[in-house]
Amino acid sequence: MPAVKSLDGPVAVTGASGYVGSHVAVALMKHGYTVHACITDLNNPDKTEHLLKLNRSDHLGHLELFSANLLEEGSYDIPFTNCIAILHAGTPMGYGGANNPRQIYDGALNGTKNVLNSVKKAGTVKRFIYTSSFSAIHHPMSSGYIFTEKDWASDNRDNDPSWSSNRIDEDGVMAYAMAKVETERMCYDFAEKDGRFDVISVCPIAVLGPLLSKVHNSVDSWQWWLGRMLTGITCKRSWNVLWNIVDVRDIGESQALMLESKISKNRSRYQLCATDKSGELNVLQLQAHLQKLFPKLNVGGPPDEIHAIINKYGNVYQTPLAHCDKAREELGLETHSIDDTLRETGQTMIDLGLVKPA
Ligand SMILES: NC(=O)c1ccc[n+]([C@@H]2O[C@H](COP(=O)([O-])OP(=O)(O)OC[C@H]3O[C@@H](n4cnc5c(N)ncnc54)[C@H](OP(=O)(O)O)[C@@H]3O)[C@@H](O)[C@H]2O)c1
Repeated sequence: MPAVKSLDGPVAVTGASGYVGSHVAVALMKHGYTVHACITDLNNPDKTEHLLKLNRSDHLGHLELFSANLLEEGSYDIPFTNCIAILHAGTPMGYGGANNPRQIYDGALNGTKNVLNSVKKAGTVKRFIYTSSFSAIHHPMSSGYIFTEKDWASDNRDNDPSWSSNRIDEDGVMAYAMAKVETERMCYDFAEKDGRFDVISVCPIAVLGPLLSKVHNSVDSWQWWLGRMLTGITCKRSWNVLWNIVDVRDIGESQALMLESKISKNRSRYQLCATDKSGELNVLQLQAHLQKLFPKLNVGGPPDEIHAIINKYGNVYQTPLAHCDKAREELGLETHSIDDTLRETGQTMIDLGLVKPA
């Protein structure tokens, strides 16, 4: 399908009030699009104000709010009317126990089926950008393995009891990864059969960068853990492996570029992760970066056990290693530096009152 441009018609974003979805909306506004921002609750100002504020900025585009729910068939028929592209970032997440593993899995697949059926009914859509996840790429590999878009989480899993649909109800991490693999493939197959639009996916990893609303501080998200470190609390998330960090603004911008790319086509996928080694940090290195950027705060670090691991093996397990070379080369994505990403995450959390400097 041909690339689209802002003059061709409106585009719609699902999950537009969320952390990723909000930055997708910002990037689309910068590129001059009319954005149909779909959210579940129009009456919650924490989900709407930061989006409506974009209409009062210098951005070229325009944004309209629509109410829609992934779990209701036909809910996106009205927001998708006349749309030339859909950017599907919404899905029921497990943050802070908001959804159980079954709801995460079923919500991703059934919600996306509903969205695809509304795309079909609209009949005007040329490009569909699916926010998948690095969870759809990452699978157990030896320390030092470098992942690319050719990897799938389901690779080499035929005799792996930890990768089984029988475990969906009990294992949220697996349920999420399996949902992302199956949903991504379902989208490509649906588009191929329909023949009128292409599906292109982004697979982000540890997402950080500016928060635009208090609701972006979801419990157990990467940004929530960074905020805790800034208040001196020990980081218990992924402390014995690497944080492979991507800026949320780069996820937004890459999706706008995918709409306009002459190279991207159905089944193109882009892993959105560190630009290079500078964005692959163990939690001691992350703590040191944050301490340098926020010298007045007492920044928390990993549990003490990390020192025994480093003494024994020289470093933490070197995974996940992955770089966003394809997005930079094919789309011309210019990524933010790790210092900028960490500074903006922390500063916006302070500005929003989510982190209170002692
Ligand atoms: N953050 C990361 O580290 C990361 C990494 C890889 C992939 N991703 C992917 O990025 C996407 C966005 O994640 P996020 O981190 O930005 O999470 P988030 O802030 O919680 O955003 C999730 C969005 O999904 C929407 N949603 C949930 N249930 C819905 C329903 N039943 N109907 C309609 N919308 C619903 C929410 O909309 P309302 O607010 O309107 O309810 C919310 O805006 C997800 O697909 C996620 O898998 C995120």
